[in-house]
Amino acid sequence: MPQPHLRTVVVLAAGEGKRMKSTLPKVLHPLLGRTLLGHVLSAAAPLAADRTVVVVGHGADQVRGHLSEVAPDATPVLQAEQLGTGHAVRIALDAVPEGAGTVVVINGDVPLLRPETVGALVTAHEEAAAAATVLAAEVPDPTGLGRIVRDAGGRLEQIVEERDADATQRAIREINAGIYAFDAVRLRDALGKLSTDNDQGEEYLTDVFGLLRSAGEPVAVHVADDHVETLGCNDRVELAALRRLLRDRVNEAWMRTGVSLLDPATTWIDVTVALDRDAVVDQNTQLRGATVVGAGALVGPDVTLIDTVVGPAASVVRSHAVGAEVGAGATVGPYAYLRPAARLAEKAKVGTFVEVKNTQIGAGSKVPHLTYVGDATIGEHTNIGAASVFVNYDGVNKHHTVIGSHARTGADNMFVAPVEVGDGAYTAAGSVIVDDVPAGAMGVARARQRNIEGWVVKRRAGTAAAEAAQRASDAKGAQRVGDAKGASVAPGTASDSEAIHGVTETVGGASGPGDTATE
Ligand code: UD1
Ligand code: CA
Repeated sequence: MPQPHLRTVVVLAAGEGKRMKSTLPKVLHPLLGRTLLGHVLSAAAPLAADRTVVVVGHGADQVRGHLSEVAPDATPVLQAEQLGTGHAVRIALDAVPEGAGTVVVINGDVPLLRPETVGALVTAHEEAAAAATVLAAEVPDPTGLGRIVRDAGGRLEQIVEERDADATQRAIREINAGIYAFDAVRLRDALGKLSTDNDQGEEYLTDVFGLLRSAGEPVAVHVADDHVETLGCNDRVELAALRRLLRDRVNEAWMRTGVSLLDPATTWIDVTVALDRDAVVDQNTQLRGATVVGAGALVGPDVTLIDTVVGPAASVVRSHAVGAEVGAGATVGPYAYLRPAARLAEKAKVGTFVEVKNTQIGAGSKVPHLTYVGDATIGEHTNIGAASVFVNYDGVNKHHTVIGSHARTGADNMFVAPVEVGDGAYTAAGSVIVDDVPAGAMGVARARQRNIEGWVVKRRAGTAAAEAAQRASDAKGAQRVGDAKGASVAPGTASDSEAIHGVTETVGGASGPGDTATE
């Protein structure tokens, strides 16, 4: 069975977008997860067109490069000189085999256009067997746009550009959205007859409507339900306005699926992001790219997640993450930076002022404070002491560190990679670990402390410090007299308690030498 309607989509994207004042072609400006062009292509995607042609001109190489990433099936066609929208469509059709069917033309700068609206336009056009159908909208301010001029019977007579319009036509608030469906054969024919007899000396695609109408062909207007969808983008002020409108649309859709947004006005979610039910997004949060937030997870306030997967019931607070994975029930922040391939397993913790890159942190393991972890594998239920650095870079190459499971590393450790700390091992505070620490061992690598008794009283006489030292020494003398009456010394050897202290210092806990759990 032959396909009833061969469909060709033509996107017009050759213009410079002068008023953007940018080295980036207008259609490549980003808007919540896609470029303007990307939004238009995705609105057209459900048409399942047999071919898609994108007319490129200004910044052609950049636009072609972008297309090869986001729409490799689309055919870029070069319009070397921008001689008008009619000229652009003529060039596009010259590049595809002649044939019947429907040609859908979309300006490249209408990013809020929804697939449903393009679909309704095309269906109406095909069902009416019209020669051409234009998407129109009634707008509060039609300045700069083409006006829909209807006859006494309400039928489309012509589309007139503002600069070619008379005063009566300018008063019309029904505008051409720049989105059309055409019968392919009649469009080709009319494009051959376009003149450049207008204020800009260009071939106007819009003149096709007047030409077809004069030839007695059926032309139609399809009015958009919501004029916001037809808003174009000509400068950065309009781009910002479109971004706010799209934000509201995206946010509303997520709230309706069961996601809580505590402050939608400061929550910016790319159209490419996915959130599960009962996720809670707190204020000042940006979710970008391929980010996914699991059920019941809490993200925010003040969080940016780019291409990051957050598992169910995890929490990420005041943090920045790029290309990271946060496991179920894991916690991140406040003030953490997760870089690409930072992977936190279930219930792992990355705390405050911690940066993690290319590292697997095992289930239940914690990196709570002031630490850099790069290029490492950390086992399960391990605790990394505060203010540690995984020294992964020798100035030329990056090296890997392995920390086992149930390990307890001391505060202020340097792990000079490549190095390995075994399962259940401990390391002392202030250690520079350059050699492997076997499973169950205590690694100590630091100079022994020396106290020079009485130094301040002797060498800083007359200072407040010396006076305080003197008072303390006097009080100690008095205490010693009391103790001499029969106190005993606590058990444990001096070297053990020193090393263990190295570990317990990180945690500020006082419950015993073996307790290194944080908080
Ligand atoms: C066009 C319509 C106008 C409509 C408005 C909606 C015409 C003559 N006018 O006006 O009725 O209200 O869109 O936004 O069509 N382009 C090319 N090659 C060219 C010229 C333009 O590819 O030679 C592309 C531009 O990159 C842009 C689109 O076509 O994506 C529209 O061009 P633009 O110059 O913005 O047309 P408008 O003056 O806005
Ligand atoms: Ca425009």
